[in-house]
Amino acid sequence: MTTGSSSGASGAQAGRSYIYGNDVFKIFKVADLEVVALRGLDLKVEKGEIVAIIGSSGSGKSTLLNILAGYDVPSAGTVFVGDYDMLNMTSKEVVEYRRNEVGFVWQQTARNLFPYLTAIENVELPMMLAGRNSKLRRERAAELLNLVGLGERMSHRPEHLSGGEQQRVAIAVALSNEPPLLLADEPTGELDDETGTEILELLNHLNVDLGTTIVVVTHDPAISTSVGRAIAIRDGKTSTEIRRKVDEGQSIGGAATETEEYLLVDASGRVQIPREMLDELKMGERVRVEVVEGRVTLRDMDADSAGS
Ligand SMILES: Nc1ncnc2c1ncn2[C@@H]1O[C@H](COP(=O)(O)OP(=O)(O)O)[C@@H](O)[C@H]1O
Ligand SMILES: [Mg+2]
Repeated sequence: MTTGSSSGASGAQAGRSYIYGNDVFKIFKVADLEVVALRGLDLKVEKGEIVAIIGSSGSGKSTLLNILAGYDVPSAGTVFVGDYDMLNMTSKEVVEYRRNEVGFVWQQTARNLFPYLTAIENVELPMMLAGRNSKLRRERAAELLNLVGLGERMSHRPEHLSGGEQQRVAIAVALSNEPPLLLADEPTGELDDETGTEILELLNHLNVDLGTTIVVVTHDPAISTSVGRAIAIRDGKTSTEIRRKVDEGQSIGGAATETEEYLLVDASGRVQIPREMLDELKMGERVRVEVVEGRVTLRDMDADSAGS
């Protein structure tokens, strides 16, 4: 018999990833129309990882992040973040989850900060709501602003900060209650390329320095070279994964790093062949699948008969 806490929902299932999503569906109903935003999405993120989610507009990135943030609930499937079962939480647990487990950064710089509060007051606010004492709050807020490189701008209001600086403050706000998980939905979307790269560099540093698990969404495929692992979503499903070949776990340099792309195979054996490949090979609706010398090959059914 094992001892220890086994009551209730506590104690993460042995071997389960920190973020564990399996066959996740999200269907939005708009009037009589149903929009399937996520269709059987799988996702695993280990504690302490930094992962980029990439995909074109409308592929389901924000839907996924909102679910991980506890802002929305899947229609079906399984999603766990740590011990939290995202499909079966009471409203009290949701509040607790959002306060303690997760920090969130929005794309819209203006949405992250209160315009009438200074940078340090913005960072202090979530700690105030969590009931921390004022001395501790101020110390930690200053510490965080130093960490994100804004030590000199603590008493500025958002309107006197650049877009990049505002996102740095937003990251400090999101980290104020020391959440183990930081989610950022296109935090560089409104920034120029250089400033965007700096923000991603900052996220990489925070991941290393604080050990915070980070999931950052972007529609920019170039970002796949700047984090350890990037997962591509196509049509509401995780389809491919891009891993850097060298420098495991190292932060970004800016120089292009060699990457390798893998197709993801779900529990039912489904893979999604990238559109470009389908087009290039002119594959139709039916393909022949063969194992040739240990490799799976797909050939268009008509390819043999067509001759050349
Ligand atoms: N609240 C909503 N109501 C209806 N449809 C939605 C809602 N949110 C997202 N969708 C739809 O779900 C799909 C995925 O959207 P989203 O997750 O925002 O994509 P992304 O962030 O990758 O651009 C889109 O077709 C979008 O129109
Ligand atoms: Mg989005």
